[in-house]
Amino acid sequence: MANGDELPELTEGEIMEYRIQKKYRLEREAKRVAYQKSLMQPLYPTIQSTEDFLLYCQQRTGQNITIDQENAQVINLLSHYFAGIDCQLNPMKGILLYGNIGTGKTTLMRLMQEAPHASFAIESAQEIINEYAADGVQVIEKYSRLIYNNNTASRYFGNREIGLCIDDIGTETEAANFGNRKNVVAEILSMRYAQLHGPTTHLTTNLTPAELKEAYGARIYDRLREMFNVVEFPHTAQSRRQ
Ligand SMILES: Nc1ncnc2c1ncn2[C@@H]1O[C@H](COP(=O)(O)OP(=O)(O)OP(=O)(O)O)[C@@H](O)[C@H]1O
Ligand SMILES: [Mg+2]
Repeated sequence: MANGDELPELTEGEIMEYRIQKKYRLEREAKRVAYQKSLMQPLYPTIQSTEDFLLYCQQRTGQNITIDQENAQVINLLSHYFAGIDCQLNPMKGILLYGNIGTGKTTLMRLMQEAPHASFAIESAQEIINEYAADGVQVIEKYSRLIYNNNTASRYFGNREIGLCIDDIGTETEAANFGNRKNVVAEILSMRYAQLHGPTTHLTTNLTPAELKEAYGARIYDRLREMFNVVEFPHTAQSRRQ
C-alpha cells in the first residue's frame, strides 16, 4: 500500500501558487456573498419626506448640493414633484427647467433621475443632433419613445419604458443628415406631444420663453406651455461654475 512518504514533496513555488489560488478563491467567495447580500437589500429606502428623497438622491449620485436662496424654491418644487409627495405641480405634465447659465439645471435633473418611480434618461439636445447626423431619421423615432431592453432597464429601476429629459434645448446647431436638414428637437417634441398620456418629457434651457418661441416656432412654443410645468430659477441666480 502506498504511504505518504512516496509522494514527491511540493516545491516552494508550488506551495506559493497554492496559497495564491486559495486567496483568490476566498476573495471570489467573499465577493459572491457580498453581491448576494446586496440583492437582498431593498432597492431604495422608504421615502417619507422630500428631505429623505434629496438625501437618497445625493447618496446615489455622490453629488452633494448646496441649497440657498437662489435654488431653494426650485429644489422644493422639483423634490415634491419627483418624490410624489404633496406635489404643487401638475404630475401629468413634465418639467421645463429654465434658468441662467450654470445655475444647476443639469445637476438637479441628474439628481431627480434617481426617483425610482419616475425614471427618465437625460440626453443633451446637441448629443441628439450629433446622433441624428450619424444615424438619420431613426434617431427621431428612438427619442420619441424610449424603450430599453432588459439589460439597460436595470439602470432605470426595471422600467422598460422611461421618460426623457432633453438637456439644454435651444442652443443646439441645426441638424443635417446627408443634406437632410431638420429641426430634430422640435420634431421629437411634436411626436412626444402626439402620444396622449405617453411617456413624460422634461426639458432644461437657458433660453427665455421669447427666445424659445423664436428657436422652435409659435406652434411648438404653444405646445410647450401645454406639456410642461415651467420651473424657473430667480433671475438673480448666478452661475455656480468655479
Ligand atoms: N446646488 C448646487 N450646489 C453645489 N454645486 C452645484 C449646485 N448646482 C450646480 N452645482 C455645480 O455648478 C456647476 C454648474 O452646474 P450645471 O452644469 O448643473 O448648471 P446648468 O444650469 O446645467 O448650466 P448650463 O446652463 O451651462 O447647462 C457644476 O459644476 C455643478 O456641480
Ligand atoms: Mg446644463
